[in-house]
Amino acid sequence: MTNADFEKLVDTSDEWITTRTGIKERRIADDKMTSGDMAVEACRRALEMANCPREEIDLLVVGTVTPDYRLPSCACVVQEKLGLPNAVAFDVVAACAGFISGLSIASSFIESGAYKKILVVGTEKLSAFTNYKDRNTCVLFGDAAGAAVVAGDNGDRGILSTYLKSDGRMRPLLWAQVGGTANPYTPDFQFNGSDKIWMNGSDVFKVAVREMADAIRKVLDKAGVKASQISLVVPHQANIRIIEALAKRLKVDMSRVYRNIEMFGNTSAASVPLALDQANRAGMIKEGDYVAMVAFGGGLIWGAALVRW
Ligand code: COA
Repeated sequence: MTNADFEKLVDTSDEWITTRTGIKERRIADDKMTSGDMAVEACRRALEMANCPREEIDLLVVGTVTPDYRLPSCACVVQEKLGLPNAVAFDVVAACAGFISGLSIASSFIESGAYKKILVVGTEKLSAFTNYKDRNTCVLFGDAAGAAVVAGDNGDRGILSTYLKSDGRMRPLLWAQVGGTANPYTPDFQFNGSDKIWMNGSDVFKVAVREMADAIRKVLDKAGVKASQISLVVPHQANIRIIEALAKRLKVDMSRVYRNIEMFGNTSAASVPLALDQANRAGMIKEGDYVAMVAFGGGLIWGAALVRW
């Protein structure tokens, strides 16, 4: 969907959306395609790239807030469709921090020796969860999936450090109020957007910039790496102004900050792996580079991961 498509839906303009968010287009999955379907495709390509047989995967972690069903997990759907006979599969509900949370879980499990090869995927069909009558939110979101195989035999390369933090007091800043056990659907429920994403954009904006910068500093400190050594920052793609403010706080030049928000909008848990994959395929990451990934989202929850490529 282009900005011109939104001009027909709500009172907005290409100029407003471009200058306030940096977004020009988003990808929208067709009606029949689920978050699980997108995850299966992303995982298939990640396994191929890693040259990893499906039988070797012993854990699948799916970051999503848009699972195929209320029960069971999206991960169990993906496990069945992809065919992972030797894995345990579960979801992580951490909104836009879903992939970073998955990486952190994978890294800890590998360090502990519990699992050896782990598939981490972020997948979201946010279009199913978006109120296309609310101009404050509908222009922001898109659908996507991205995946990575995490394994523990890369010497001094790999995930060096991760950091996760949340503050549930801020949950009313970004939520969908109706549809859970707090406010279940009633037989006379009439659409008013309360079961879709609602957000206080300007408050989320301020917290995002502050906490993403802090999260990156935390993973750098843990690993004893300086901000000046980072080759590429791969931030959650929520708003170009957030990304620019983050770069300024970290004193990292924008040429070292990856952006693809213009083409995809905010794809929640899929945003970081999608950006990482594009940056990698574009040849922007070389062996030995320090890559810092960072995200924040509804919860509020945020986190970062520092990787030596
Ligand atoms: N088109 C035109 N006008 C719009 C609009 C749109 N699509 N969306 C909002 N506006 C209007 C508002 O109604 C408001 O009008 P008012 O002053 O008459 O009330 C005005 O623009 C300014 O709104 P405000 O919310 O202050 O704008 P902003 O500069 O903060 O930008 C966001 C809004 C949502 C783009 C920005 O706050 C943002 O990106 N926040 C973070 C969101 C985010 O990252 N969320 C995901 C977390 S994972």
